[in-house]
Amino acid sequence: METNLLIQLGYVVAAGLFVFGLKMLGSPDTARKGNGISAVGMLLAIVAALLDQGIVQYEFILGGMIVGGAIGAVAARSVAMTSMPELVALFNGVGGAASGLVGVSALSIATGNFQYVTIILSILIGGVTFTGSLIAYGKLSEMIGSGAITFAGQKFVNGLIVLGILYSAAMFVTTPSDPTWLYAVVGLSLLFGVMVVIPIGGADMPVVISLLNSYSGLAACAAGFAVDNNVLIVAGSLVGASGIILTQIMCKAMNRSLSNVLFSGFASVSTTVTEVEGEIKPISVEDAYYVLEAATNVAIIPGYGMAVAQAQHVVKELMELLEANGCEVNYGIHPVAGRMPGHMNVLLAEADVPYDQLLEMDEINPRMESVDVAIVIGANDVVNPAAREVESSPIYGMPVINVSDARTVFVLKRSMASGFAGIENPLFYKDNARMLFGDAKESIGGLVREFS
Ligand code: TAP
Repeated sequence: METNLLIQLGYVVAAGLFVFGLKMLGSPDTARKGNGISAVGMLLAIVAALLDQGIVQYEFILGGMIVGGAIGAVAARSVAMTSMPELVALFNGVGGAASGLVGVSALSIATGNFQYVTIILSILIGGVTFTGSLIAYGKLSEMIGSGAITFAGQKFVNGLIVLGILYSAAMFVTTPSDPTWLYAVVGLSLLFGVMVVIPIGGADMPVVISLLNSYSGLAACAAGFAVDNNVLIVAGSLVGASGIILTQIMCKAMNRSLSNVLFSGFASVSTTVTEVEGEIKPISVEDAYYVLEAATNVAIIPGYGMAVAQAQHVVKELMELLEANGCEVNYGIHPVAGRMPGHMNVLLAEADVPYDQLLEMDEINPRMESVDVAIVIGANDVVNPAAREVESSPIYGMPVINVSDARTVFVLKRSMASGFAGIENPLFYKDNARMLFGDAKESIGGLVREFS
């Protein structure tokens, strides 16, 4: 009895640590600590589960902890910052599969309809999350094409699969002793995961990953009900709710509804020809230095290219030199810049850039007219004025950082290649834009040398 009380107490404390940790993740200066606190909560939950003899034998949990912990540690240490979204996609998938397996194992202890419903939900959501995440991983890592895969009658086929899942799930709950319906739900859910993600591609993938993250939480929550484990219910609900909130934030950042992201096929546009006027005006490092030397207000807009070039440290050096020269420097951070939520914040935090200089899009845009030089570092889609100016553009309506409102814009990139959305950028042809071609780290390194 006492051990049981201790276990339940452990679960409650673990759940509290999850909530605390999650709250701390909301701000960059407490995020690292929040992550640690949540990890301690997870360890406590596992230890409590270990003590809970009713769950499973010790050796399996210990074995799982060692193998899973080792894989997690190696993956987190070795993954390049630019591949983080793929890793998150894989983790979501593994989370979904784990919840599905918990659901399957709960069959041996299931007694009533409620349990059968929660079991089938954990298997169903877990299965969709698993294969959906694998496809998202394949698309992001470009193992399979990142474009949308569509075919005639796709919606009809998907509708049939959903009907098949619902029918099989209902049959399973009414006749749980017949394994046919269970197999049908497993197979159809796995297939559905593939079918819902293949028509989505390109720039919409971050939203899908976040949605799948939410699904993995819901699957865990259902599994928690199936095995009557409170901490799994709480943790699953937290992941489910935070994933859906993040999804909403990203949709808002792109000025699109979730249904538009999932069903419109926006990302199927891999290249769009936009009529652009004006000409490209390259600039040398030396000339760029003279302009920056005279500037009193500079805005730095980082994007995916800064992550590729690993230019964050040298960017910080340039910032310090500009400030020493009497210039005000701020950073404009777009919510979907880079390849994962908060990507730019993480990189700049790594270089110890003060958080109060990181301004969100809504804060920096009204100030842009008073900026002497906007330095766009490896950003493309998030500064694309076609979103405001070209009605036929697939990104029309998406809020972007209005760098062309600054007096001068320097665009640091290696070529005229397009960004993730695969569309032309009229910014590069604007009268006040200058292209500083080359690897961002080298170009900024050159500017730093000119200053010092
Ligand atoms: P992108 O539009 O992808 O543009 C990145 C630019 O960086 C490219 O045009 C590339 O041009 C340049 N670049 C690459 N390596 C470089 C290097 N070493 N030095 C200098 N420049 C380099 O990036 P963005 O503006 O950050 O926009 C993000 C896009 O990714 C959006 O479409 C967004 O929806 C999508 N996305 C976002 C996320 C999240 S959650 N943030 C996740 C997945 C996808 P060159 O090749 O010419 O150098």
